[in-house]
Amino acid sequence: MAGRMIIVSNRLPVTVTKREGKFFFNPSAGGLATGLGSFYRETGGVWLGWPGISLESARGHEEDIITKLGELSCKPVFLSKRLIEKYYYGFSNKTLWPLFHYFLQYAVFDQKFWESYRRANRLFCEAVLEVAEPDSTIWVHDYQLLLLPQMLREKLPQATIGFFLHIPFPSYEIFRVLPWREEILKGLLGADLIGFHTYDYVRHFISSVRRILGFEHSLGIITTEDRVLRVDAFPMGIDYEKFAYAPEKKEVRQEIKRIKRRTGNRKVILSVDRLDYTKGIAERLKAYDQFLEKYPSYKEKVVLILVAVPSRTRVEHYMLLKKEVDELIGRINGRHGAFGWTPVWYLYRSLPFHTLAALYHIADVALVTPFRDGMNLIAKEYVATTSADHGMLVLSEMAGAASELGEAIIINPYNFSQMIEALREALEMAPEEKSLRNYLMKNRLRRYNVNRWAHEFMEKLYEIKEAQQAFVAT
Ligand code: G6P
Repeated sequence: MAGRMIIVSNRLPVTVTKREGKFFFNPSAGGLATGLGSFYRETGGVWLGWPGISLESARGHEEDIITKLGELSCKPVFLSKRLIEKYYYGFSNKTLWPLFHYFLQYAVFDQKFWESYRRANRLFCEAVLEVAEPDSTIWVHDYQLLLLPQMLREKLPQATIGFFLHIPFPSYEIFRVLPWREEILKGLLGADLIGFHTYDYVRHFISSVRRILGFEHSLGIITTEDRVLRVDAFPMGIDYEKFAYAPEKKEVRQEIKRIKRRTGNRKVILSVDRLDYTKGIAERLKAYDQFLEKYPSYKEKVVLILVAVPSRTRVEHYMLLKKEVDELIGRINGRHGAFGWTPVWYLYRSLPFHTLAALYHIADVALVTPFRDGMNLIAKEYVATTSADHGMLVLSEMAGAASELGEAIIINPYNFSQMIEALREALEMAPEEKSLRNYLMKNRLRRYNVNRWAHEFMEKLYEIKEAQQAFVAT
């Protein structure tokens, strides 16, 4: 491998915040940062990304931040407030995010957002050029940087460039709506290998490339005017051992005891997500509400622990969702609650690892019911952490993870009564049945962990690089 590997994503695995003039460095939330973080530490590479703070807030302290992040092998790409507004909150999260998750009615198409998106991708490109060599390996991640592969290709024609999309790639019928669809596809085709979580996303992408750009493909190889590149599925895994052995750690054991003292004999239903409208949190709550109504014998015998991690709080649809979730929880607790029993325990914050692992371990059921989700690593983390005969996952068929976790109770999140029955089934499932199902899923997760995911991606990347040389030679 030539030089240090360069990883680029919009968000660094560490987020910098400023409070009362002081800077704080905390782990970032979301599948990309948590998942890739484990692999990245092994590569000895450098990770470039936005540190989560604006250029204006960092002003005068840039050097300190650069040094501190440098110790973690991260290099910040500072963005101005204006760019954050239009590139990050704007095109990334008001255009691409809703569109790619089939929330067409939420997608905003604004020329100014698009221009800022291009400008931000250009800034990331310049930051990479500061550290890259002509034959570097560069791995670009996610929907915020769809133009970066081609920008890099123009400057570093020999570089080995991989791209991985952590969210769904929508069907052509959705993607075609995007006014800048051609530019986006051309931006991606600068990569040598483009990876998706599932074969469905690969299929959607290939079909968009063929219908919009007219480039044909065969067995995952796309031939453009002057290059060949590969497209393939790599379902992202987790750091299996970290979760599987967490309950043996002292800190986690203490946390388990502490939480169990509060839950007592009640069965615990767990829900953990970033507070995002794609996750189906409000509908999950409504299903729980109806579950308690339909099966009143469960009252006081269960508790739903709902962890919602604040996310993209300046985007209107996220603010509205927060309001809806707050109100729903109030309503459910008011309606069903009794002295000494609160049906929903609500934590609106991100949790440290030991608390999260304790919750995964304690929970009798995990409800992971997104409307759309590229993969959903929470589902995998839960299966890894639960004891085989104890927990049961209820999983939406709309999550990429459903292709690998078929032994979970799979539901359609738009089907309310199915969700209610699934919850009951999970709560009542016999330990032997849970063991059987969890055993199969655990084994799969152990084998195809995040390291294997990253290494397979890298192997395929170098393979196509070699094949390209043959293509040039013919
Ligand atoms: C998803 C995306 C990531 C993103 C994460 C958190 O997992 O695929 O790219 O980093 O959400 O969202 P944020 O906007 O806070 O970076």
